[in-house]
Amino acid sequence: MHTEKIPAREGNHNLQDYEKMRKTFSWDDMKKNFSWNETGKVNMAYEAIDRHAENPDTKDKIALHYSSPDREESLTFDDLKKSSNQFANVLKKYNVEKGERIFLFLPRSPEFYAAFLGILKVGAIAGPLFEAFMEQAVRDRLQDSEASMLITTPDLLERVPQDDLPDLKKIVLVGDSKETSDKYIDYDKEMKDASTDFEMEWVDLEDGMVIHYTSGSTGKPKGVYHVHNAMIQHYATAEWVLDLKKDDVYWCTADPGWVTGTSYGIFAPWLYGVTNVVRGGRFSPDAWYGTLDKYNVTVWYTAPTALRKLVSAGSEIPKKHDLSSLRHIMSVGEPLNPEVVSWGLEAFDLRIHDTWWMTETGAQLIVNIPSMEIRSGSMGKPLPGIEASIVDNEGNELPPNQMGNLAIKKGWPSMMRKIWKRPEKFESYFINGWYVSGDSAYKDEDGYFWFQGRLDDVINTSGERVGPFEVESKLIEHEAVAEAGVIGKPDPERGEIIKAFITLNDGYKESDELLEEIRQFIKTGLSAHAAPRELEVKDSIPKTRSGKIMRRLLKSWELGLPTGDTSTLEE
Ligand code: PRX
Repeated sequence: MHTEKIPAREGNHNLQDYEKMRKTFSWDDMKKNFSWNETGKVNMAYEAIDRHAENPDTKDKIALHYSSPDREESLTFDDLKKSSNQFANVLKKYNVEKGERIFLFLPRSPEFYAAFLGILKVGAIAGPLFEAFMEQAVRDRLQDSEASMLITTPDLLERVPQDDLPDLKKIVLVGDSKETSDKYIDYDKEMKDASTDFEMEWVDLEDGMVIHYTSGSTGKPKGVYHVHNAMIQHYATAEWVLDLKKDDVYWCTADPGWVTGTSYGIFAPWLYGVTNVVRGGRFSPDAWYGTLDKYNVTVWYTAPTALRKLVSAGSEIPKKHDLSSLRHIMSVGEPLNPEVVSWGLEAFDLRIHDTWWMTETGAQLIVNIPSMEIRSGSMGKPLPGIEASIVDNEGNELPPNQMGNLAIKKGWPSMMRKIWKRPEKFESYFINGWYVSGDSAYKDEDGYFWFQGRLDDVINTSGERVGPFEVESKLIEHEAVAEAGVIGKPDPERGEIIKAFITLNDGYKESDELLEEIRQFIKTGLSAHAAPRELEVKDSIPKTRSGKIMRRLLKSWELGLPTGDTSTLEE
């Protein structure tokens, strides 16, 4: 049943004895790595940036190499401390208080990182939004969180439906703008006037830090709320899973609009004090290999969808680049195909380490670490300090090799602390003391976990999590669409693509133009990654008697699978 076993790579890895660490470790041991262990004063931004800026050995070390097609900059820990202090002063000037939700709708840029850290420094909660979001996606998130301030660009401002956002008091604009109302704050001007000194707002470990919105199978996206305490696990995984050494140059390819881009694009590398690479602009194999080469990246965290694209781009492009500095590669977000792992061994002479976790979990939970054997196709084993299992629907543990719910014993440091304003939703994740992930998996007799699929209708397209309800809701806003049912359809490169089934209102006839118009409606109204690649017109959409769309049935039809129990199907 099990595929290739790839032996551990020799070397002085941070975690040499996984089994021993599992037995002896307690989260309390990790706390000694933080200044608050002695001072009692907590703030993620301090631990990630200021602490290194205040140390003469690391003050002038490069914290951030930023590059995009039209801009390149390298900033030291001291530079980032100062720019985030300046932004924190701007926030204070406009009376931002601890606990307020301040959202960022910005391209990846040095300004993003200064603002994000500045928000943490005043004790406010940062809400990063993916740059590709369109109006509906922006509206849902800013409304639900009751965000009081937004940092964006004049271009992106068009997608901010201000009339629907009564709580949004101020908007900071990064870049030249003609706006004159005093609702707008000019980033460049305010930053120039702001002091580079700032009195940090010390918070409690359990105080809010970041909100990431993510999709479930029903309802609007939900605000997953994380607290400063998560740093304990970000640090632990930086050490064990990222295997960081002080001189590493680390690159996480994820956008900070998603949790990987904050937990592992900001917190983990900077808590560990390493040089962090951030690349703006779009994916291209040449640009990506070029980034690895240019900055001599040593540790790389990316996603199966990107790796699959590199595989299809062929073996000639990497030969044009010197990739010899690379020593450690990890992947997250979707199943990592064994073929890609084999390709990694050839292309880089390196193992690709799969890691499993979710927005809700805040940090890696099931991992492959360098000193562990990899079973190609498996997500690995639980992090020391984490108890993972396969449980049935009542939360009883199942024996090895039996498929069930992938579940984690409640209470790890980076676990979400709430779903914003929806306590019942938060509670619904937990059964019998287990956090139930919504993924199905099994565990083999040696303790390796094997991902099988989602148990709900959540779609994973190119590593991005899309809720079918959000797409369906937008589809029926189009005047031609009566009903809609949305599913994920397997795709060799993207993992899944979004397929929508629709019925048309009277007076509308199916045509290529109409279908394209509907697709564009989603693309420009919600976001490009949520736009269905396939649209099919049907006479009716199957629903249960209580009116729920039977996506499972749509999927079975689409894939030519047995339809299973249809007893609840409406006549
Ligand atoms: O289905 C699992 C899949 O991505 C989901 C979580 O998505 P999100 O909250 O957007 O977080 C993504 C990155 C942290 C999971 O429920 N997933 C994540 N990692 C893996 C995975 N599926 C298979 N293998 C993985 N390593």
